[in-house]
Amino acid sequence: MRPNTPSLPAPSFAGQDILSVSQFDRTKLEYVSGVAHEMRVLVERFGGADLLQGKILANLFYEPSTRTSSSFMAAMMRLGGQVIPINNVQYSSVSKGESLPDTIRTLESYSDVIVIRHPEVGAAATAAYYGANPVINAGDGVGEHPTQALLDLFTIVEELGKVDGLTVTMVGDLKYGRTVHSLTKLLLNYDVTFRFVSPEILQMPSDVLDAVNASGHAYEQVEALPDAVAGSDVLYVTRVQKERFTDLAAYDRVKDLYVVDEELLTQAKEQMIVMHPLPRVGEITYGVDDDPRAAYFRQMRNGMYVRMALLAAVLGRA
Ligand code: NCD
Repeated sequence: MRPNTPSLPAPSFAGQDILSVSQFDRTKLEYVSGVAHEMRVLVERFGGADLLQGKILANLFYEPSTRTSSSFMAAMMRLGGQVIPINNVQYSSVSKGESLPDTIRTLESYSDVIVIRHPEVGAAATAAYYGANPVINAGDGVGEHPTQALLDLFTIVEELGKVDGLTVTMVGDLKYGRTVHSLTKLLLNYDVTFRFVSPEILQMPSDVLDAVNASGHAYEQVEALPDAVAGSDVLYVTRVQKERFTDLAAYDRVKDLYVVDEELLTQAKEQMIVMHPLPRVGEITYGVDDDPRAAYFRQMRNGMYVRMALLAAVLGRA
């Protein structure tokens, strides 16, 4: 430590909900990334630890999920905790018409923390309002996906060693993709330049663009992908969110507009990373997987380390 640097106490997340990226400033982000890195070392050396022994997670998913759901479960189990998995709400009392507040009150009487994914914007906040234990938003419709943004940020730090000064290009469904909404807002804590690549009907929502403008960050909106790739440090690719379209003919018109392939990567920097929250449905060809710049599988694994850090933090054990 440099002389005269005051030593600040680590931020405490104990007992808190994680609902939005707006809860995080740089100090908190650095803390989460630091703890996630320690979790990674822990898992690589020992497979885990018993930090959360005696704690139970209720994992409540009203929308499909593979990575988010199973990485939260793996995170809890690697820290010695246990999980109540509710991935098929059609087999729970939700299908009998039980309200969200009652489901939350029920689950929190059996558990210490609730992770919720729900199709409606604001559902995680509603759950947090009715629950006394920490609630973590694992995606609320087209709203936010804060834990994904935290793992995306952690991936950028692990892969590129810094965030300030980077050009981050986001491609695809910027309108309905909650991951890009959360990641853009989170990156406003850093000195980054944005490039938003989408067809007109899938542009970034105005509230996100307003936040970018208000914070004084530079951004450009373009439709052509090849022009945007050169000079980018991060290429963040997204799936067109079919389930959010009311007009499937409109979906068909835009679903195959952008494909990242080996040829496109010849335009890219040697140190650029390709990210994707996954699942992919054709936006990145399998040929790209062997390119060292393809970071999406490492990104996916990072999700477990970040969720270990978050669970330990909200349960007061980080
Ligand atoms: C994303 C989601 O659910 O928003 N997936 C994920 O959590 N890794 C992205 C997507 O479904 O396209």
